[in-house]
Amino acid sequence: MTKYNFFLLVIMSAFIACNNPVKTINIPIDPNKDAHTLSNADSFELKHLDLDINVDMDNKRISGKAVWSVDNSKYALPKLKFDTYNLLIDSVVADGKKVKFEFGDTIIYLGRALAIPVTETTKSIAVYYAAGANAKALQWLEPQQTHDKKFPFLYTQSESIYARSWLPCADGPGIRFTYNARVKVPHGLLALMSADNPEQINDSSIYHFVMDKPVPAYLMALAVGDIAFKSVDSRTGVYAEKGMIDKVRWEFENIGNMVTTAEKLYGSYRWGRYDVIVLPPGFPIGGMENPKLTFSTPTVIAGDRSLVSLIAHELAHSWSGNLVTNATWNDFWLNEGFTNYFERRITEEMMGKSYTDMLWELGYQDLIDNVKELGATSRDTWLKDSLNGRDPDDGFSDIPYEKGSHFLKLIELNVGRPKFDSFLASYFNEHAFKTMNTEQFLSYLNTHLIKGDTALLHKIQINMWVYAPGIPENCPRADSERFMKVNTQRINFLKGMPAKQLAVNDWTTHEWLQFLRKMPDTLLLKQMEDLDVAFKFTQSKNAEIADLWFLIALKNNYTTAYPAMDTFLSSVGRRKFLEPLYGEMMKTEKGSSMAKAIFLKYRNNYHPLAQESLLKIMNKK
Ligand code: BES
Ligand code: ZN
Repeated sequence: MTKYNFFLLVIMSAFIACNNPVKTINIPIDPNKDAHTLSNADSFELKHLDLDINVDMDNKRISGKAVWSVDNSKYALPKLKFDTYNLLIDSVVADGKKVKFEFGDTIIYLGRALAIPVTETTKSIAVYYAAGANAKALQWLEPQQTHDKKFPFLYTQSESIYARSWLPCADGPGIRFTYNARVKVPHGLLALMSADNPEQINDSSIYHFVMDKPVPAYLMALAVGDIAFKSVDSRTGVYAEKGMIDKVRWEFENIGNMVTTAEKLYGSYRWGRYDVIVLPPGFPIGGMENPKLTFSTPTVIAGDRSLVSLIAHELAHSWSGNLVTNATWNDFWLNEGFTNYFERRITEEMMGKSYTDMLWELGYQDLIDNVKELGATSRDTWLKDSLNGRDPDDGFSDIPYEKGSHFLKLIELNVGRPKFDSFLASYFNEHAFKTMNTEQFLSYLNTHLIKGDTALLHKIQINMWVYAPGIPENCPRADSERFMKVNTQRINFLKGMPAKQLAVNDWTTHEWLQFLRKMPDTLLLKQMEDLDVAFKFTQSKNAEIADLWFLIALKNNYTTAYPAMDTFLSSVGRRKFLEPLYGEMMKTEKGSSMAKAIFLKYRNNYHPLAQESLLKIMNKK
């Protein structure tokens, strides 16, 4: 492990403004250097961003200026570099003087560096720019693509490396800055950011934002639309389009308690308010932990509060990720594995152990499936990832989430919960608003928890988890009492018991997922019909259940479900739901023409990133 844990000092010379003497400087080059930013902000100080933009919904264009406060005194770099992706740069002004900027080479998934000549004393850099319809982070929705169908909507999704497609920035998770923003939007719309937020639409159509805690660029976020607010308690609330705000308020009744529960586990919530915005259906992911304002898919609004663990997850990122941030995308498990673990601890406090064990078990199944898919010896199944030279989005998998959280669960089981909890609380506290890489975490773990206990080291086998593929033998497994009962019912059904007679009365979404996941690949038409009549799967308003049912319907050519599936695919933009259905359709010739026809009809309802991943699925076969 030590080979990862060193700093290589490389002597570099830099030429500063020509009337100054040539300076020789030592810039530490870290082997853990972030390979996904073209910025050199690891060698100058980025302090603050003042963003002033206009959002033009008609022309799908954001334009304005990004003013960066910088300090270049340490290494006196001749040029400061920022990340850009498809941005139009109009001009750059450094300390009040227009300067001649240059672009670096374009790297397909990284974009290109914007290099700005500076001196050792440069303090401010204003970039006048525009971002358009081809920005990867932006989804511009026509009114008919929203829930209420009355006004256009815009939202961003900056993680992992797309902030650079809507503002010039140093786009690496290890680089933090505070920000202010002034955002002008069309009349009658509200703007929200990952910052202090307004609660109401105003007449000026100009909104001001302050984020006074340093955050990395991937946590920059903006949403603009006809959005309403409802308070939950004194520090939490919900935002959504007006037509669904009451449903959302009901579904998220418990987010105030969730924050208090999380605080009891790992220390105070440091961000002031915690609000959630439910976005229109095209949102490509489940949730995004934008500080102070989680962005959520509308597919969590199941009408029975059964999917709110997704909010527990995004809230948990307020500690793991937003407070202590992965240094590079190769350390992504420090964000997501910790958060998955933390999410389940919050859920356990609020819903009990037997409920949470179902989440652990479903996660474990995902892990098994994912390792099978990637290959048991695949480098992509290490916790320490190896994404250099690749788009981090391409390396996205369940591994950081599930292998990561199971690793933490294993440590918990070995040292005992009280000890592990106080360890985690100090870890978050001591590294608040800082960056963490895998090796730093392991060293902290050794110093503060393992303390050289060789028996413990032997039991945990850190290297097998972090620097080796597959699922280690000591992987913990949750009790599956409730799933055993589900399995019994499934077996009864497969043996011929009519669906109506199965004992399913107290089942939650998770039991239904287990029931459907474990069905054999082929079912008889009469079995499909029996299930559908008894449980109304085709009509399910629960996206998790509907998605799985449609997958089974495709496998069995159960055409009764196809019109409902078509409607589902017309609106839902969450990749987790789209990808398996498109993937399944692509397995047969008839299915692939169906997939292509459906994609043609609805592609504009999908986020650019979702379109991209579906095209990949359709072109692979
Ligand atoms: N931070 C992630 C979303 C993300 C990851 C966006 C990588 C872009 C790149 C977020 O916290 C997340 O994990 N969301 C999950 C839901 C969660 C309950 C597992 C999702 O979107 O499915
Ligand atoms: Zn997450």
